[in-house]
Amino acid sequence: MDVYGVIGNPVGHSLSPLMHQAALDALGIPARYLAFAVRDLPAAVQGILGLNLRGVSVTLPFKTEVMTLLDEVEADASAIGAVNTIVNDHGRLTGFNTDGTGLIRDLREVMDIEGRRFAVLGAGGAARAAVFGLLQAGGIPVVLNRTAQKAEALAAAFGCDFRPLAEAAGVEADCLINTTPVGMAPGVERSPLTADVLGRFRWVVDIIYTPLRTRLLREAAAVGCRTRSGLGMFIHQGAEQLRIWTGRTPPVDLMRRVVEARLIEAG
Ligand code: ATR
Repeated sequence: MDVYGVIGNPVGHSLSPLMHQAALDALGIPARYLAFAVRDLPAAVQGILGLNLRGVSVTLPFKTEVMTLLDEVEADASAIGAVNTIVNDHGRLTGFNTDGTGLIRDLREVMDIEGRRFAVLGAGGAARAAVFGLLQAGGIPVVLNRTAQKAEALAAAFGCDFRPLAEAAGVEADCLINTTPVGMAPGVERSPLTADVLGRFRWVVDIIYTPLRTRLLREAAAVGCRTRSGLGMFIHQGAEQLRIWTGRTPPVDLMRRVVEARLIEAG
């Protein structure tokens, strides 16, 4: 039986085991997918080899640090500067990043990307994956961040525009994408942007999926924006991981159903 897993800290609330186990079972692949709370990252990466784990998801706070511990980092992950997926190919560890692909696949379900302007809120690892994915898909990102220098550095790295968050009201874009953790449980009463600037965006997307309806999305819907939670991005980044590990077509609808049911059950 093959073993897969997610490494991070904390990982107790990760929905990856639920999603991936359901998918592996549905595909008839005899495998277990487990959550590993990491105490020592280099030892954990050695453990992938020692225990012959076939594939590993990487979550916070290790997505950048893990890069130096692998044999190879694929070009997209290297450009993003973060790895969320490890493949163990007979003792050789390669890092991939499926976050950008996950976001783009989800957006494509509801909107065109090419030639459209996207305001990307935040300048951390998640923002880098979003900007990278949008540029690859022909979108035009503008980075909005509280700390203007970080927005400027990200924009310079990818050759796009930036604005300080305080100037959000002056940004022209079809879609706003929140990549910051502001509004995530347990801080559900918070929002990264004041409601008065939301009406200028046709779409408001949050990559947060706990809760499914963040304050940002609720306030955006109230002023007439169309909204999208982070559920689809989470499903698609996981589906792409599964495709990389197994070469099989992932059961995306089933993965979405099990995760959504758990999120609704959790309130
Ligand atoms: P990740 O790698 O998951 O994207 P990160 O690197 O910690 O996380 O980045 C978090 C992002 O959320 C940053 O852009 C941060 O803004 P700053 O660069 O100004 O710190 C943004 N962020 C966090 N808390 C915020 C808040 N209360 N308001 C606005 N932006 C916030």
